[in-house]
Amino acid sequence: MLIGVPKEPHEGESLVAATPDTVGKLIKLGYDVIVESGAGLKASYPDEQYRQAGATIAEKNEVWAADIVTCLDAPPESEISLMSRGATLIARLNPGANPDVVQTLADAGLTALAMDAVPRISRAQSMDVRSSMANIAGYRAVIEAANSYGRLFTGQVTAAGKVPPATIYVIGAGVAGLAAIGTANSMGAIVKATDVRSEAAEQVESMGGQFVEIPVKQESADGYAKAMTSDQEALALEVYSAQAAASDIVITTAQIPGRPAPRLITAQAVAAMKPGSVIVDMGASSGGNCELTVPGAVIRTTNDVTIIGYLDLAGRLPGQASQLYGQNIVNFFKLTTPEKDGLLTLNMDDEVVRGVTVALSGSIMWPPPPVKVSAAPQAAALPAPVVEAEPAPTPAWKKWWWKIAAGALAVWLILTAPSGMQGHFFVFGLAVVVGFYVITNVTHSLHTPLMSVTNAISGIIVVGALLQISSEHPVVWVLAFVATAVASINIFGGFTVTHRMLNMFRRS
Ligand code: NAI
Repeated sequence: MLIGVPKEPHEGESLVAATPDTVGKLIKLGYDVIVESGAGLKASYPDEQYRQAGATIAEKNEVWAADIVTCLDAPPESEISLMSRGATLIARLNPGANPDVVQTLADAGLTALAMDAVPRISRAQSMDVRSSMANIAGYRAVIEAANSYGRLFTGQVTAAGKVPPATIYVIGAGVAGLAAIGTANSMGAIVKATDVRSEAAEQVESMGGQFVEIPVKQESADGYAKAMTSDQEALALEVYSAQAAASDIVITTAQIPGRPAPRLITAQAVAAMKPGSVIVDMGASSGGNCELTVPGAVIRTTNDVTIIGYLDLAGRLPGQASQLYGQNIVNFFKLTTPEKDGLLTLNMDDEVVRGVTVALSGSIMWPPPPVKVSAAPQAAALPAPVVEAEPAPTPAWKKWWWKIAAGALAVWLILTAPSGMQGHFFVFGLAVVVGFYVITNVTHSLHTPLMSVTNAISGIIVVGALLQISSEHPVVWVLAFVATAVASINIFGGFTVTHRMLNMFRRS
């Protein structure tokens, strides 16, 4: 089958649905690919690169007449009319909000696959264009904020004085929010973040942010938040406003599927922010998380707060955004071309394929049945609780007997040892106590580097044991041999582990 990659018909769109790299992958799946001349120019992919990847460069009408056309968003009717009946369109169609587009596509006798309707399940992650674009947009949101913010992100101590780090508050720790947290953290800012989903706290911390609790908690079965009641909203608004007033930059990413963006930052909260602060409202396309956002524009309030409402954050990084979008499309083709024979096979029993199918050969298929798989692992159904008798508390002597016995043994050893050895035993006993407290207070993640220190101790043991190995007393040389063997295991094991750790940080 022939896949057509047209130049995006929408004014201002900088992305392209396939890059030379992804064209090569489509060809490996058995397809022929035809690319409209100049389709990749805005993303810095010239025609020549597509040609080298194996595509044919052609004019618009020829490309839209292909068996399958893949583009970014729902094309205008003028382009739909160029497609042949029975052909397939693969794009972001936003079918829930665009019933007219769905009807037009069905009337044209097309099969329409909405890549923005890929269910949020683990198996479909590699095809999820919303996540790919939100990830890039979250990164770009921080770059836009840094560009508008007139200060450094990172704190510095210089000869001329101290510069405090910027404080960034991210509301909504989904895909875009986590990307923003990671980016801002790597630029040296102090990052705080809030989400209604309780499982988000751990993810925020893993990206280097501090989780700010709001008095509203939601357990998420499908990876998405639900709308709040008005009481919950009022409580949450207090937290958002207080944090915004204390921050230099606020990035809002909160969304609830199928609804307008929740209002998180009121005009009053903006008025309380510091002069020079910046808000990046990623919810601008669905009404805005901030009351004052102007979608698609940047405004400056009277108290000198910049509010950025760009709708094309991912499009501002067109090279990689196109590559990720194109790779999502390739992954979808891998699923639907199991024989790698260049034939698109739509298996409606597959929940991913069914989920994206908006129209099938002219019949409307939207909405699909709900997907039963959850994004977050569901808690397994718990058996009815069994009430058990409280176990009897362990008697104190059982907890302490071995410590008392060890202490008594140590005292007996010191007292009965030859006078020259007493000092050694005493030092050894002290070393054990000090070592115990030092090591147990070292955080677990540092235990491996700590092991390198024990290599040095093992070295001392080996030297001591080698000096004793020529002893005539069999017990002494057996002990010396065992000590050398055990200490050597520690030394070589330590080197191996350290080597493996260093490899983890090496660029391939
Ligand atoms: P997501 O669904 O992965 O994340 C949204 C997060 O907001 C979820 O974790 C949710 O629990 C949280 N949330 C919802 N209501 C909340 C509330 N009241 N308080 C705190 N947290 C709340 O969505 P994703 O993919 O990260 O996208 C985020 C936003 O970015 C969307 O609005 C999307 O349309 C937008 N976006 C904007 C782009 C642009 O160029 N402006 C480009 C890509 C995405």
